[in-house]
Amino acid sequence: MFVSECLSVNDAGHLTIGGADTVELARQFGTPLYVFDEATIRNTMREYNASMKKFYNGAGLVAYASKAFSCKEIYRIAKDEGCGIDVVSAGELYTALSVDFPAEKIFYHGNNKTVSELVYAIESGVGRIVVDNLTELERISEIAASQSKIVPILIRVKPGIDAHTHDFIRTGQIDSKFGFALETGEALEAVKYIKEHKSVELKGIHCHIGSQIFEVSPFELAAEVMVGFMNTVRQETGIILTELNLGGGFGIKYVPENDPVPYMGYMEMVSKVVHDACKKYGLDIPFIVIEPGRSIVGPAGITLYTVGGVKDIPNIRTYVSVDGGMTDNPRYILYQSVYEALVANKADKPKDAVVTLAGRCCESGDLVGEGMPIQRPEVGDIVAVLATGAYNYSMASNYNRVPRAAAVMVKDSEARLIIRRESMEDIIKNDI
Ligand code: LLP
Repeated sequence: MFVSECLSVNDAGHLTIGGADTVELARQFGTPLYVFDEATIRNTMREYNASMKKFYNGAGLVAYASKAFSCKEIYRIAKDEGCGIDVVSAGELYTALSVDFPAEKIFYHGNNKTVSELVYAIESGVGRIVVDNLTELERISEIAASQSKIVPILIRVKPGIDAHTHDFIRTGQIDSKFGFALETGEALEAVKYIKEHKSVELKGIHCHIGSQIFEVSPFELAAEVMVGFMNTVRQETGIILTELNLGGGFGIKYVPENDPVPYMGYMEMVSKVVHDACKKYGLDIPFIVIEPGRSIVGPAGITLYTVGGVKDIPNIRTYVSVDGGMTDNPRYILYQSVYEALVANKADKPKDAVVTLAGRCCESGDLVGEGMPIQRPEVGDIVAVLATGAYNYSMASNYNRVPRAAAVMVKDSEARLIIRRESMEDIIKNDI
């Protein structure tokens, strides 16, 4: 009935998540509040892990893309489930290491890693640095040499597939700030550089074609192009690459109309392409890595707000103002993203209104959504916005000096605080 299976309605007519009453959670922890269902996160990680066993004989790793939601607790859960992680800054790496996340299962990404970040990543012994460009490759090689280390790396390749257009297209050379191009020979040049520099060891190649993708075909095509490049590398340099990281990007259900392919379906179809292409070129099946972010945490999270005001503008629209907005969820102002919302304390009632959910910032565009069907909201109601687990907290800001919201994790109907609400002291802590 809802976009996520962890949501339901109890006898009081209240929305529940993981069996916990959201109206009670709002009362206990305050609003705005991010609420996550632990079982959903773990089940998705398990499903991806199982797909590695099933389709690659266990020779694979699920690296949770932690940019989707980064905090100590999510790294503890990923570690516990045997996942790896993708990090994209020293901050994410620091957070993961602070809870003893195994460094060898960390993939360090980014198109402009600073020298100090590279030094930190190398000193920490991260499993793979995913190299974006030649300048970075030279930097890594120098740092590694100065530390008498051999650093295991992947290179990020642009497979030339743009999955962000409505119908995905394959272009000669996509316009992207990430990675090495294939067509210009840039990627092969990087491989040749690595061959000459002993302080870097090329383990394999990486690609990531986009995010919130519903079709399987762009993933299949990317896999085919990538295995083809592994063959080129072998032919041109004699190097046998043993790892293939296919990135993340699997779409989730934000609104009932969204119809994502079940993750097992993606995995099965892409694995077939990998197997067929390897057979065609006479290559062994590489160790496979995937980097799902949104699909692991997105459906597991919701955001609770308190309604502070309702403004009916006859024949125009009804603004319902909540106590959060772009500061805790900037996805509408950035991408006009769509969400499902409901009044948590009237979850058993029909949605008899269509409203614009407005945030509290001094910014007209600060909306959570427009034209949202919802139970008619009144002041004091608790509004729940669904499937906010990914790229909400991680992209939150302090605009207007609004403190960042708290987050709780629900397990067996009980909630525990995993991120404290920011205080006024936090707001000024760096001011001098
Ligand atoms: N791997 C790499 C190298 C990535 O760049 C990303 C996402 C992922 C994995 C995870 O992709 P996912 O499975 O989460 O789709 N802020 C945007 C999303 C940006 C995604 C950036 N890269 C949003 O809110 O929609």
